[in-house]
Amino acid sequence: MRIVLLGAPGSGKGTQSQRLVQRFGIPQISTGDLLRSAVARGTPLGIKARAVMEAGKLVDDATVLGMIEERLAEPDVARGFILDGFPRNIAQAEALDRMLTALGKPLTAVVQMDVPYAELTRRIAGRRSCQNCGRVYNIYSMPVGAALVCPNCPGNPPLFQRPDDNEATVVERLKVYEAQTRPLVGYYGGQGLLQSIDAQGDVDAITALLVGVLSSPAGEKARSVAGATKRAKSRPAAKKKPGAKAGKSARSKVAGKAKAKAKTKAKTKAKAKTKAKTKAKAKAKSRARNTAPKSARKAAPVTRRAAARKKKKAPARKK
Ligand code: AP5
Repeated sequence: MRIVLLGAPGSGKGTQSQRLVQRFGIPQISTGDLLRSAVARGTPLGIKARAVMEAGKLVDDATVLGMIEERLAEPDVARGFILDGFPRNIAQAEALDRMLTALGKPLTAVVQMDVPYAELTRRIAGRRSCQNCGRVYNIYSMPVGAALVCPNCPGNPPLFQRPDDNEATVVERLKVYEAQTRPLVGYYGGQGLLQSIDAQGDVDAITALLVGVLSSPAGEKARSVAGATKRAKSRPAAKKKPGAKAGKSARSKVAGKAKAKAKTKAKTKAKAKTKAKTKAKAKAKSRARNTAPKSARKAAPVTRRAAARKKKKAPARKK
């Protein structure tokens, strides 16, 4: 599995990547985490990236692509990977395609995680992370009054708020997302790789949905570019696999109905044609009778009943 998770800041890419790591046993590659680590270590790259990140802008492509190239050369990605927060623009996506083509390992899926803006800003405002293990929490989903510490790490270190999670930076990050990252939906849609999911609601249900979408057959994936969101809303989590059989039977039902409709239509048309033909024939016959010369009319066969009627009507001739 070589996966890209696309989505606006706060859409849950990091949260879901960590769950997919557990599920599929492949590493998460987050350019945001790599950059934050460089900033924390104070490397030259980190020093350069810090101001850009705090302004909510994108770090330059050359820096990010260098980091990705290095990471993709590590042995743990041989079985696959989940790209979280990369690529961020078309140039990065094209460079990634070139890198993976050279490695003979193209992407297998791209999933766009859709979340409305109001929910994104709420999530970002409530996000808290552990500096030690990198786990992400949210104050809105933590028990009321719970200490803001990491329950998973020894010594329960305090959780911290990312410096780019302030209001002004979030507005800029969302703008940058719309202008530079959203076009990737079209880019990967054109490659037949993209699926979109509704990433609102229960975290476990979204994971189940993602697993279903990522496990679906390749042919089905290409057909469901815009459809997966609707399926996610209308089906329970356990049944969200877009099964090829269900799609096929639904399609053949529709085809069958259309066929029957066409048949009935053809029958009605044929009946109407026969009726019109009979009517026209009768009309022509009566016209011929009326316009024919008297002699011919006389010669026409006369029924006995008509002859009797004629005789009754005719006044008795005087002898
Ligand atoms: P990065 O770290 O990649 O940030 P981002 O893309 O803005 O995404 P976030 O980490 O904010 O959100 P997320 O989607 O991972 O959500 P999360 O799971 O945490 O990048 C940071 C900066 O680095 C960029 O601004 C840029 O400067 C630079 N950068 C990074 N990559 C770059 C690149 N490729 N090129 C150039 N520059 C680059 O969830 C958010 C919160 O919501 C959490 O609190 C979580 O607990 C909660 N949550 C998750 N799911 C749910 C749910 N279903 N319901 C309720 N709450 C939920």
